[in-house]
Amino acid sequence: MVRAIIHASELLTGAGIRKKDGRKVLEKDLGRIPDGALVYSTRKQDGKEIPDRIEWVGPTAELPRRYARARKQDLRGVRALIPGMVDCHTHLVFAGDRSDEFALRCGGASYEEIAARGGGIVSTMRATREASPALLERLGRERLKEMAAYGVRTIEIKSGYGLSVESELKLLEVIQRLKRAAPGVTVSSTFLGAHAFPPDRSREEYLRDVIEVMLPEVARRKLADSCDVFIDPGYFTVEEGRAILARAAKLGLRIKLHADELADTGSAGLAAELGALSADHLLKISDAGIAALAASRTVAVLLPGTAFYLKAAQAPARKLLSAGAAVALSTDFNPGTSMCLSLPAVMTIAALYLGMTRAEIFAGVTYNGAKALGLEKRKGTLEAGRDADFAVLPFSRFEEAYYRFAWSP
Ligand code: NIG
Ligand code: FE
Repeated sequence: MVRAIIHASELLTGAGIRKKDGRKVLEKDLGRIPDGALVYSTRKQDGKEIPDRIEWVGPTAELPRRYARARKQDLRGVRALIPGMVDCHTHLVFAGDRSDEFALRCGGASYEEIAARGGGIVSTMRATREASPALLERLGRERLKEMAAYGVRTIEIKSGYGLSVESELKLLEVIQRLKRAAPGVTVSSTFLGAHAFPPDRSREEYLRDVIEVMLPEVARRKLADSCDVFIDPGYFTVEEGRAILARAAKLGLRIKLHADELADTGSAGLAAELGALSADHLLKISDAGIAALAASRTVAVLLPGTAFYLKAAQAPARKLLSAGAAVALSTDFNPGTSMCLSLPAVMTIAALYLGMTRAEIFAGVTYNGAKALGLEKRKGTLEAGRDADFAVLPFSRFEEAYYRFAWSP
């Protein structure tokens, strides 16, 4: 079936952003079409009709004759139409909460102090290990639904709160079920067994578990699209990260990195060197790291909600952008450092505290987010031939999604 959306107040194609591969984007790259229209085909999946391919994009007044009889949705000039947004870095599947740690942090304790006292990732690990797959799936579905309500259509989900062979595989299986359970939402799955060291294994034992047992099993059962490692003091070293990611790449997984968040470890440079899809966080990235990312195909994923929530200094976004890096924005949704499902709230922080422009924010939640997941050939812009992956905002202009702070869908 062919369907059309007509009279969008503004339709932002992002075509110019794709042409520049997400770098140094300007207002004109948004491809703004006032009173826009979009024609797309649909297909049946599990008895439901879902959007398939984009057939045509342009001003409503120029809608080709051949689509005159397509089923139409009229946005009446009051709703903006944009590419489905991409949240390319989340830790969506976990049980329990860390509101107690939040209270400690509000009282002045640091994230690192709390982790050193046995809190942090390991405390969520305990709750997550105890949780049934059914409970984790239910929590995951609720969270996906809330994220999608903001206009997010592609969501990356990391494992990383199991930290044992059995529990990491349990989490990845839950993510696989979420992939099938969320029609209209694309889920990208990332294996983050190297999120922290569990207290019940020695360092050597756990590294062996990750490299020799988990990774081969994850690859054999195709449980993940990518592999990520948290490289920072107190977590994994650059050398450990290199060993894990080399094995992952050999097994056919794409690579991502939690890089230079708590300290400059040189891990952004490692991401560029290994041809990673993305280097994420980057609060402490060095000038050498910035130059390495700008010269590479690796996307710099910034998570300004996390720095806000940790009361830490924000990443040097302007330096990355002027150096020519492709910059994406994401929530980093997780129970410790960013208990926030709203990508628009993150966009507000990016506008105010990273100094990002409308074009840069748009690119950060569309094309560059897709590129951080290796999906930029299909997603992130509205152009004929690409996935019919779009969002109608409840506003007449795109920027109201972040100008209106902390709105509820
Ligand atoms: O992305 N940086 C590492 N991991 C998470 C925090 C996880 C947690 O505290 O539970 C992050 O910020
Ligand atoms: Fe993270």
